[in-house]
Amino acid sequence: MDSLLDGFGRVHNNLRISVTDRCNLRCTYCMPEDVTFLDRGQLLTFEEIAYLVRVAAPLGVNKLRLTGGEPLMRKDLHKLVRLLTPIPGIADIGLTTNGLLLKAQAEELRDAGLTRLNVSLDTLDPDRFRELTRRDGVENVVEGLLAAKAVGFASIKVNAVAIRGLIEHDAVPLANFCRTHGFELRFIEYMPIGAEAWEREKCFLAHEILDLLEREVSPLAPSSDYDPHAPAMEFDYADGGGRVGIIASVSRPFCRSCNRIRLTADGKLRNCLFALDEVDVKPLLRQTGTDAAIAEAIRRNVAAKWEGHEINSAKFVKPLRTMHAIGG
Ligand code: GTP
Ligand code: 5AD
Ligand code: SF4
Repeated sequence: MDSLLDGFGRVHNNLRISVTDRCNLRCTYCMPEDVTFLDRGQLLTFEEIAYLVRVAAPLGVNKLRLTGGEPLMRKDLHKLVRLLTPIPGIADIGLTTNGLLLKAQAEELRDAGLTRLNVSLDTLDPDRFRELTRRDGVENVVEGLLAAKAVGFASIKVNAVAIRGLIEHDAVPLANFCRTHGFELRFIEYMPIGAEAWEREKCFLAHEILDLLEREVSPLAPSSDYDPHAPAMEFDYADGGGRVGIIASVSRPFCRSCNRIRLTADGKLRNCLFALDEVDVKPLLRQTGTDAAIAEAIRRNVAAKWEGHEINSAKFVKPLRTMHAIGG
């Protein structure tokens, strides 16, 4: 088996596939209110996405995650999952969603072979939900989560972006909600990739989150069995209440263990969340390519990967795409 090795010795087995840039929320930390979306004809078809995955799998890609925008806005997403699950080498398919449309789709996604679900939810408070997302719908997200639990997803995680001035109110209610239902809550340090001006001071940092949880929920101990290539540091509640994660992209960057490449909804390969350059594979997938040319494009993109993001340096340059057009 081939492997996708970059110049820093990192092996890339994890492909994040954005299936649309559209979203039914307008989270302030992610995108502007008056956003222009891609035309439908610019999106890769499900067959084109599956073609890319069939070429990537023999290069060592075994883990997929479907993202957006909001991936459940792409019609019949379960049909894409059905195309991807039988591809030899693909061991695991996850989905990152805002959960608004999850209740209606949880069962068909599970039946199609989706195994892991990450649901973004920053607050349980309807007013703060509206403030953050510029829309209503927190009760739909909660219903979606409960529906996913009821149909038996083995792994359900809740993602909350940790923004100073907001998350202090929501961290403990979210932690208690997740502990009650067996969801793993992960706090994500706020990153400079949305539409708003970003300042480090707006990030509620990993150590502050840990202090807050230890003070108001339960003592924590680092988990012994977590994936060293995953973005989250994991901790177990000492009282047996499950697990909590922290994605500390700002205070503890994890680029050294990165195993991720990305495919945008319009068919561009990105070797980093913060990449400034992309490789366009749509023409290769659509008409002109051979399997060998597509494999070469993937290899080239990985080989060109930089050491890591520079959020913490004056050299940092924000990518042109905001988060909704990358998929996180
Ligand atoms: P699993 O570990 O498979 O559960 O998924 P994940 O945590 O990688 O995926 P998810 O889509 O839930 O991402 C959660 C947060 O981590 C999002 O804010 C992502 O932008 C962030 N994230 C994921 N991968 C990377 C990465 O490579 N670099 C950085 N800086 N952030 C990432
Ligand atoms: N910083 C950190 N996380 C973000 N997300 C979106 N924008 C940002 C940002 N600026 C998160 C979403 C979702 C995941 C895909 O990315 O909340 O959980
Ligand atoms: Fe990997 Fe780039 Fe994320 Fe760092 S910022 S972990 S290199 S994708």
